[in-house]
Amino acid sequence: MSTSTPTRVVSGIQPTGGLHLGNLLGAILRWVRMQDEAQCLFFLADLHALTVDLDPAELSSNVREMAAALIASGIDPKKSILFRQSAVPAHSELCWILNGTARVGWLNRMTQWKDKAGKNREGASVALFDYPVLQAADILLYQATHVPVGEDQKQHVELTRDIAIKFNNDFDVELFIVPEPFIGGGTTARIMSLRDGKVKMSKSDPSEMSRVHLTDSDDEIAQKIRKAKTDPEPLPDNAAALETRPEAKNLVGIYAAIVGEEIDQVLDHFAGQGFGQFKPALADVLVALIAPIRARLNDLRQNHDELDRILAEGAARAIELGSPVLAQAKTAVGLAR
Ligand code: TRP
Repeated sequence: MSTSTPTRVVSGIQPTGGLHLGNLLGAILRWVRMQDEAQCLFFLADLHALTVDLDPAELSSNVREMAAALIASGIDPKKSILFRQSAVPAHSELCWILNGTARVGWLNRMTQWKDKAGKNREGASVALFDYPVLQAADILLYQATHVPVGEDQKQHVELTRDIAIKFNNDFDVELFIVPEPFIGGGTTARIMSLRDGKVKMSKSDPSEMSRVHLTDSDDEIAQKIRKAKTDPEPLPDNAAALETRPEAKNLVGIYAAIVGEEIDQVLDHFAGQGFGQFKPALADVLVALIAPIRARLNDLRQNHDELDRILAEGAARAIELGSPVLAQAKTAVGLAR
């Protein structure tokens, strides 16, 4: 992350309950590493969760569960600002202001909107359509320079850039920083289902065997790896040869992400070996990664007072950082002097 302005990192995750290995390797461990390099704000995007049908009774417990999982994974509330999005009303307020800048045509091009609304656009919520403008508000409120996101969110960060540029232009201000999407940063691995190497590891997959949870026991983890789908071939000696073998590629990718090596380095050790040898090695590094996280998580998740205290403190710091920017945005559009 080289830049002339000081780096400020902002990212959010929807509170869907717990984290799985895909979130951990794909996103959260990158966040953990960034904490030492930049000022970081991480939040539970509960307002974004309102864009689809959800059970109101679950939202708050999901927020706590996800906060506990983030802290157990290494997000340190002393280093980073960790909070619940809805606890900072400025996100909603700035979203409304930016709704005046964003164009319907821009939002119509968002692939996530097209995918999620599907054929039933008329029946989708307005919030689902407006989702990327709220995300732009999340980012611009804190004058973030870098936004760590997966490939699937890159388009939303590009939209954020367009909104920032148009707002600054239209109102003749230099208020919003035009942020960079930050895709790399160690593990870029897209973690796929253990049952099908062509679909992402996901909380919504009906098969429990498709994913590893941070709450899984050592035995459950080992069993899920033992039963993971593979092919009968031994491992090749180069990454390119994995391209036609999605399940093998996924397992090697998970190993590489955990130990912090390139795929080719991993294959240097395992070329010519079958999954009978590779899977136990993978289970070992995975258990070594998850076991301490699980122990911290089990302590924390019951401690609602402590979690609420951490989130309240994070929200207070976020409010302090965001208020001057919101005030300037209000002034720019004429809502305040
Ligand atoms: N849309 C993001 C996702 O689904 C979550 C998110 C909301 C986010 N607001 C954000 C990510 C701001 C980065 C910055 O993954």
